[in-house]
Amino acid sequence: MPNKELIQHIEQLKKDKGAVILAHYYTRPEVQAVADYLGDSLALSVKAKEIDAPIILFAGVNFMAETAKVLSPEKRVLIPVPEAGCSLAESCNATDLAALKAKHPNHIVVSYVNTSVEVKALTDICCTSSNALQVIESIPREQPIIFAPDRNLGSYIQKLTNRDNMVIWDGACTVHEEFSLEKILQLKEENPDAKIVVHPECKAYIAAVADYIGSTAGILTYCGKSEATTFIVVTEAGILSEMQKQFPNKKFIPAPPIDSTCGCNECRYMKMVTLENIIACLESESPEVILDEATRKAAEQSIINMVTIQ
Ligand code: 13P
Ligand code: SF4
Repeated sequence: MPNKELIQHIEQLKKDKGAVILAHYYTRPEVQAVADYLGDSLALSVKAKEIDAPIILFAGVNFMAETAKVLSPEKRVLIPVPEAGCSLAESCNATDLAALKAKHPNHIVVSYVNTSVEVKALTDICCTSSNALQVIESIPREQPIIFAPDRNLGSYIQKLTNRDNMVIWDGACTVHEEFSLEKILQLKEENPDAKIVVHPECKAYIAAVADYIGSTAGILTYCGKSEATTFIVVTEAGILSEMQKQFPNKKFIPAPPIDSTCGCNECRYMKMVTLENIIACLESESPEVILDEATRKAAEQSIINMVTIQ
């Protein structure tokens, strides 16, 4: 069936079921097209709580749908592909984090939202790439911190805040760690007026050549406000469709990964969500996110603590 018909079918199902679709910028362009709300991790977490609908379908990876369920236990949260994980979330499990906490009992735990609900249950305050700086700055300087799981975001924030009392987890996103500095610099040579915009999940030597470092939403805002007309975009390439839509007169060049044949500047998990599996999910109202209530409750406060810091 052509996309146009699939999209019409989804719109009808949404009406029939009272469902709302939240989608992350890294999903496929046609999936973004059926979203009622498109956003970065922070915006989608906030939206999931605010939304007045009995069903939320989360077009994204599983930690995002879990976060929506943690915040809105009374709503049904559907996830078309529950096995759509996240390399970063998988780099930190709850047993290992509990062991690290036991070693540092006086540390506050700040975790990126890219974590399982069990890790969030061991966390004092969550953060996203949009608000990590505000979250760390909200904590008294003398208070030691465990920051999990992204080593690149953690080191970047540590540098900005000049704090030496942060224990940083050794995790990373396989998409954001794969960009090639050599190829980015080559693109800059070919487009000398271009601005380089970088997500903080990238390695420090990539961030070092950035004109702007920020979350996907931050990058979008920067590109809109900047007088520059060409941008080399160093984050997951799914964001480019929204950039081109919002700023049709500007040029966005996706940064290439080290291995140009691997397609690894695309998140394979985000791309698992398709129009077909959204339809199947809405029709059957499954799979649905179901959480153990004690774990959900324990995780909830860490996300509320994050949202109230805004
Ligand atoms: P943001 O949505 O916070 O920019 O994070 C990017 C990401 O990798 C989400 O998985
Ligand atoms: Fe996880 Fe990286 Fe994919 Fe984001 S881009 S969902 S951090 S694997």
